[in-house]
Amino acid sequence: MGELPEKLYKRLVEREERNTLRTLPKDIHGIDFSSNDYLGIANNHIVFKKAINILSEKEIVNNGATGSRLLTGNGILFDEVEKLLRELHKADSALIFNSGYDANIGLFSSVPQRDDIILYDEFIHASIRDGIKMSNARNYKFKHNDLKDLLAHILRGQENFTKNSREIYIVTESVFSMDGDSPDLKALSGLCKKFKCHLIVDEAHAIGLFGLNGCGRVQELDLQEDIFARIITFGKALGCHGAAILGSADLNKYLINFARSFIYTTGLPPHTVATIIAAYQFMTSPQGLKERELLHENIALFNQEKERLGISSFFIPSSSAIHSCIIKGNNEVKQIAQIIQNKSFDVRPILSPSVPKGEERLRFCLHSFNSKEDICIILQHLALAIKKI
Ligand SMILES: Cc1ncc(COP(=O)(O)O)c(C=O)c1O
Repeated sequence: MGELPEKLYKRLVEREERNTLRTLPKDIHGIDFSSNDYLGIANNHIVFKKAINILSEKEIVNNGATGSRLLTGNGILFDEVEKLLRELHKADSALIFNSGYDANIGLFSSVPQRDDIILYDEFIHASIRDGIKMSNARNYKFKHNDLKDLLAHILRGQENFTKNSREIYIVTESVFSMDGDSPDLKALSGLCKKFKCHLIVDEAHAIGLFGLNGCGRVQELDLQEDIFARIITFGKALGCHGAAILGSADLNKYLINFARSFIYTTGLPPHTVATIIAAYQFMTSPQGLKERELLHENIALFNQEKERLGISSFFIPSSSAIHSCIIKGNNEVKQIAQIIQNKSFDVRPILSPSVPKGEERLRFCLHSFNSKEDICIILQHLALAIKKI
């Protein structure tokens, strides 16, 4: 087999020396405080059976999509799910991509043009950064959730405008994937309106948790008409796979024509599309509502317990399912994670360079199915472990 070039080998050695080498986990065991399956849909038998029923009712027996959606891969279920998404999410159009990663690189590499400006929150997800890197637009980051800093960037951007045809795109997440916090979306949207900027919101970690039927923060705040594009993903609370971009009918037409991660890839297989429909039916059902209520009870309990144990100052404040406890240093955070994992809890350390140096953390993901007792116990273990370090 061909050998890895020396310079690549060196990069791996460097990671090993810095204790930042990524490896695939072997067995996943312990009580789940780390997956994105916030409502337990990934392991929900009703949803699994429903997806099979959808396929058999429509006599769909294909294993794969057979091609790009623009060629042979646009199976009949895509129409159904995109209609469902348009109605539920109050959007003029919905376009399914194979993943949130694909949706973001497709959107950001194709929409902002050479003279345009992209202003993005410094903590934005890697998929958005990668999409921005593939774009010809100029890009600048603004301080996390800091509207003053964003305003300064907008004004600076506008000063440099010589032609009216230039556009400013502003990008944020409605729940940040690493910090679990949220921007002031109402104020942000007001700012975008005032300065005629296009607001793009990634709702990956808000779908299933917030708003009527779990439709996300944008709809909870009734801002859907003011948002240029929303990215929703199905691999988190919906427990399956894939993503969609919600926006105007013209944006839909544009993406079908220019988003290369939509055009040059095989479409999702029918089983995955059927699972998205089944997961949405569950999420919007009374059972889905119950799971959402349980999740919010658990979030409230987690916040209450960390306060009671005197460890809340280690945490980034959050009312979402993601709660990050900052423990500086890769070695230190790995050590604390190991202590808690040894007590049969599955919680993962997030190391630099995935997060900036000094902001290494234990990232707790809460679920509707976590018991109240387990939430109290895991925080007790954390409080003891923090004292030891
Ligand atoms: C904010 C955000 N956007 C997009 C993605 C990518 O979504 P997917 O896992 O469907 O590729 C993620 C996944 O971690 C995310 O956290």
